[in-house]
Amino acid sequence: MIYSADTTLIPIDPSTPDPALLWRAADVILSGGLVAFPTETVYGLGANALDSEAVSRIFAAKERPANDPLIVHLASVESLPLVAQDIPPLAYALAERFWPGPLTLVLRRTAHISDHVTAAQDTVAVRVPAHEVARGLIAAAGVPIAAPSANRFSRPSPTTAAHVLADLAGRVDMVLDGGSTRIGVESTILDLSGDVPTVLRPGGIPLEALLAVLPHVELRSLAVLEGGSAPAPGTLQKHYSPAVHVLLYSGMPHSVRQYIISSAAGYVAAGRRPAVIMVGDSSGYEQAGVLVVSLGHDETHASANLFAVLRDLETRADVILVSAPSQTGLGLALWDRLWRAADGRVVRVE
Ligand code: TXA
Ligand code: MG
Repeated sequence: MIYSADTTLIPIDPSTPDPALLWRAADVILSGGLVAFPTETVYGLGANALDSEAVSRIFAAKERPANDPLIVHLASVESLPLVAQDIPPLAYALAERFWPGPLTLVLRRTAHISDHVTAAQDTVAVRVPAHEVARGLIAAAGVPIAAPSANRFSRPSPTTAAHVLADLAGRVDMVLDGGSTRIGVESTILDLSGDVPTVLRPGGIPLEALLAVLPHVELRSLAVLEGGSAPAPGTLQKHYSPAVHVLLYSGMPHSVRQYIISSAAGYVAAGRRPAVIMVGDSSGYEQAGVLVVSLGHDETHASANLFAVLRDLETRADVILVSAPSQTGLGLALWDRLWRAADGRVVRVE
């Protein structure tokens, strides 16, 4: 069987989940099934990381290419040696500071986990999530749980159970509905398997917080910081993409605003349905025929709302004009997701 015919939706208390429900979900995991569950970042699509057949069902359900490895979720740092080896002291220092939480470490793998999880590479991505439902589920199952975001490949990540069902109903056995996720963008991925710690994906732990522990860290996706030039091979893969055209505008705030207002008017005149999104104040953007949505009053709130807004706007607009956020704090992760949603289309406004 590749797809589940029926998906059971189970409401669950996000702060004190009922152990009986966690056992029920753990039972599905241990019988080789798929359970979508909330984490503090986004919903994950979980399977037993030690069961190759179960893990291959994740790829089928998401229509995800088999060469894109999955993150392994653990209940606590004590289980780390089961999935990783040659673990550097730095990994333990980071775990001490940031786990449970939205930091994923890439380490050398052991032979225990399925080759499907790691796409047959010699490294494994691993994190201990902070959400009580995620932690309770992993603990009840007693196995590491491989879980990518619970969206179909190239769709925006899900931050509610409704988003999961929109993409995966009939393709997963169970969805634990613990409400909206708190952080809203995925974990920060830090590669510790090479000589220099390298951020592969900015996310829920801001770069500034990592730099407080790590004096040297490199960012792989320099294209993000430089405003979209020369992306590294493989990073232009379409990700987090809503079904509509997205354009990212960066530059001085006042100039960006003027530029977006006149671009939006141009789209309206051409019979299109533009939407404009930004972090912070939306005043001044309003005009006939243009949907205007503030993502939130700061980067933290904007991150929490981003994917829900993208999913909502794709049914109501046919082009989304984005005023690029700052790149500090969670703004860097926000920039990265918007840049990918825009498929690298950045307009530099002088
Ligand atoms: O917040 C999150 O990280 C969420 C929740 C569910 O935990 N998960 C998530 O998984 O975002 P996913 O599969 O959507 O993104 C995982 C990323 C992929 O881009 C994958 O290429 C990368 O992690 N990855 C996984 N294993 C890796 C490895 N061994 N080396 C480098 N990158 C890896
Ligand atoms: Mg994903």
